[in-house]
Amino acid sequence: MKPRVVVTRNIPAESLELLTPHFDVDYRERSTPIPRRELLRRVKNARGLLCLLTERVNGELLDAAPELRIVSTFSVGLDHVDVPECTRRGVLVTHTPGVLTETCADFTWALILSVARRIVEGDRMMRAGKYKGWDPLMLLGADVHNKTLGILGFGRIGQAVARRAGGFDMRVLYSDVRQAPGAVERDLHATFVDTETLLKESDFVCLHTVLDQTTYHLLDERRLRMMKKTAYLINGARGPIIDEGALVKALKGGWIRGAALDVYENEPKMAAGLAALPNAVLIPHLASATLETRGSMGRLAAGSIADYLAFGRAPSNAVNPQVARSASAA
Ligand code: DGY
Repeated sequence: MKPRVVVTRNIPAESLELLTPHFDVDYRERSTPIPRRELLRRVKNARGLLCLLTERVNGELLDAAPELRIVSTFSVGLDHVDVPECTRRGVLVTHTPGVLTETCADFTWALILSVARRIVEGDRMMRAGKYKGWDPLMLLGADVHNKTLGILGFGRIGQAVARRAGGFDMRVLYSDVRQAPGAVERDLHATFVDTETLLKESDFVCLHTVLDQTTYHLLDERRLRMMKKTAYLINGARGPIIDEGALVKALKGGWIRGAALDVYENEPKMAAGLAALPNAVLIPHLASATLETRGSMGRLAAGSIADYLAFGRAPSNAVNPQVARSASAA
């Protein structure tokens, strides 16, 4: 009998083809998040789970799936997966780093330019038939070139965002838990500063940190008030890094000039009042959404399950590779 693998949602067809020759695939071909109860029922007897960032992988799920050997998430973010608990139970966890870096960095620039140059407001004006002809004072935005870009979280995506800033002749500041090697700083013309300095000096603050206990509400009322009144906040990382209620106050009260968000604190919901604010660009979590990148993410996520369960190979994108080592030693 082939091992069972559960796939919780629609994924690109070519990734499914990596699974079907080897496994009995329980494919939920839907575009809506799987209800929790259904997920707990389907993972019973499953050896592999291909999930998304909308599914919480925790002790409850692992209890319901005693035969599970691998959780492969179709995301680079892992905040929905209790990795220590998976490790304790001998379940390998893989994610999709690398393949979405450049695509997400491109998207951050789309957010920066949209909010600074009021692209979405202009589009709305055209469609509403409100454009009455060129006006020297209409929809004035802010220049991006020659400004200061602050990147909070200087991992793969943060660095790819910094690389693109060279084309805009920007000064680049970054903060992170550790300073990047000198060669990276020189290459990207980026200066390491503490978070407070970054917030006080940047014209564009971009979030690229992981979400964990240390970054939850990192941008709270106190820190939002540190930003320049002319600054913009860009979030392509995870919603709960910003206290969204405080952000609504900041945008209404003019503590900052604007924000562009791809992610939300209680996704897919938004904080009350956010949708009514013209100085917010609001996007439904699209940073990695290109045909090429979603294809690569799917192949990596499905291929990791096939590698581990069908070919006995430890995938290089595992975050707890010690599980694979002890499984092969057993
Ligand atoms: C991820 O992979 O974590 C992203 O949020 C999806 O674009």
